[in-house]
Amino acid sequence: MSEKFNVPSELPRYPRSMWRTVTTLPTFPELREDIKVDATVVGAGIAGVTTAYLLSLEGYKVALIDAGQILDGTTGYTTAKISAQHGLIYSEFLTNFRPEIAKGYYDANIEALRFIREMVETHGIDCDFKEETAYLFTNQEDKLDDLRKEFDAYQELGIPGQWHDSLPIPVAAKGAISMPGQAQFNPLKYLKFLVEKIVENGGLIYENTTIEDAKYGKPIEVYTLDKANTIFCNEMVVTSHYPFWNIQAGYFSRLSIERSYALAVKPETTFQGGMYLNIDDEKRSIRSAVFEGEEVLIVGGENHQPGKSDNTFDHYLALEKFAGETFGVREIPFRWSAQDITTLDKIPYIGPFSSDYPFVFIATGFNKWGMTNGTAAGLLLRDNILRRSNPYMDLFNPGRFNDKSMNQNIATSFKMAKELIAGKFAGAHEKIDNLEPDQGALVRHGGKKVGAYRDPEGKLFLVDTTCTHMGCETAWNEAERSWDCPCHGSRFSYSGDVLEGPATEPLKRVEE
Ligand code: FES
Repeated sequence: MSEKFNVPSELPRYPRSMWRTVTTLPTFPELREDIKVDATVVGAGIAGVTTAYLLSLEGYKVALIDAGQILDGTTGYTTAKISAQHGLIYSEFLTNFRPEIAKGYYDANIEALRFIREMVETHGIDCDFKEETAYLFTNQEDKLDDLRKEFDAYQELGIPGQWHDSLPIPVAAKGAISMPGQAQFNPLKYLKFLVEKIVENGGLIYENTTIEDAKYGKPIEVYTLDKANTIFCNEMVVTSHYPFWNIQAGYFSRLSIERSYALAVKPETTFQGGMYLNIDDEKRSIRSAVFEGEEVLIVGGENHQPGKSDNTFDHYLALEKFAGETFGVREIPFRWSAQDITTLDKIPYIGPFSSDYPFVFIATGFNKWGMTNGTAAGLLLRDNILRRSNPYMDLFNPGRFNDKSMNQNIATSFKMAKELIAGKFAGAHEKIDNLEPDQGALVRHGGKKVGAYRDPEGKLFLVDTTCTHMGCETAWNEAERSWDCPCHGSRFSYSGDVLEGPATEPLKRVEE
C-alpha cells in the first residue's frame, strides 16, 4: 500500500540539486535544421562536454546534443568528488586482473584529476576547487579484512596512502585508508567554462533535442526524434549515460544501474575537512561545500536498483538521521538523487563502439566516479578520434570480454526477463478515489492496472506504466514523483514525459 506522501522533518518537499541551483548555465536552442559537422557528441554531461571541448581545441567542428538541458543528467546531481579512491576497487582489480590494469586505472584517474586542476589554475576557473584528503573507512568488524586488503593493494601498486585507526571527524570507524591530494569542486561552474569555450571555438550546442537513431556510413547520419532532422558527421560520440544506440554491441546487458541520494546539510558543528566514503552495509559519503558563503556538508549514500524501493523517501530520512546524529542539522537546503551506471568489470567502457563501427565511440559506466572517469573519457575519446596513441586505450576498450563478463552478461539478461515478467503480474495497490493530493500509486482503472498521480491541486494524471524502451514495468518513486524502470533505468515524470533514457518516447497517457 502506498502511503500518503508526507514531508517529514527538515527535508525539502521537492528534490533540487545544489549545483544546478547555484550555477547559472547558458541555454541553447533545439535543433530544427539539418547540419553538417566533423563530430557529433550525444549527451552533454561531463564526458560529452569535455570531449567536445577538447575536439573544438583541435579545430574540429563539433555539435554537442542533449535530450534535455546540458549538465542535467548525473553530472548535475553528483557529490562531485574528484578522487582516485573508488571504494575497494584496487584489491578487486588485483584479484581479477593483472597489476598493470589496476595501476593503469589509478593513473588514468589521477591524470584526470591533474587535468581538472590544471584547467582551473590555468584559466582561473572559479568553481570552489579545493584539494582534500580522501578517506575510505569501515566501522564493521567483518569488513576490516577487506579494507586491509585494499591497503595492501595500495602498497603493491605504489598508490600513496596511509592506514588510520580512526577518522578526523566524529564518525565511528574501526579502520580507514587516506589518499592525499584528491579534490572537490562545483562541477557545473567548472563545466560552464568548458561549454563557453566550445561555443567560442565554433562548436554548436543544442538542448531539448532527442537523438533517436543513427545510420552508419560516410558520412554518419544522426537522426533526431521521428527523423525530423539529420546531423551529417564523420565521427559520432555517444556519451548519453545509457547509450541511445545499441546496435549489435549488447550494451544494455553489459551495464547495471543504481540510484543514490544526497542531502546538503547546514551542520551544527564544525567540520574538520576531508572527503569520506565507507564500505559498510549502509553506504555513507561525506564532503563539505559552500552555499551562500556558509559551509554545508553533502551527505550521500543509500544505493538501490531503480524502481526497487518501497518508499524512496526513506533513503533521504536515513541520511538525515545519520547527519543529525553525527554533525547536528540546522537546516537541509537541498536534497537530490542520481543514477549511476556500472560495467560488468567496473572499468568504464571508453573507446570504439564496436569493431564494426570504427568512427563511432562511446563512454559510459563510470561506476559512480564520473568526475575523474568522465574527464578521463574526454581525454581518451579525443585521442581515439585523432588516432593518437594513449596508454589507456586497451584498458578502457569497450570490446574487452572475458568468461566472467560473458556469464554476468547472461545473468543480466536473465534478470531483465524476470523484471518483465514480475512487473506484468504485480498487483495494483490503490483505489483511484483514495489517492490524496501529491500521491502516486498503481491503481485499477477501467479493468486495467494504470499508474496514477494526483497533483497538489487535485489534478489526476494517468499513464500506462509499461516502459517505452523495452517493455519492463516502471514503479512509482515517491520522493521524486517519477515512474522508474528497473531494467535499464529509464525514468518518466508523473505525466509520462521522459526524464532519463534510454527510453525516448513518453509513457502512454490513459484517459480518465
Ligand atoms: Fe529498458 Fe525500461 S525496459 S529502460
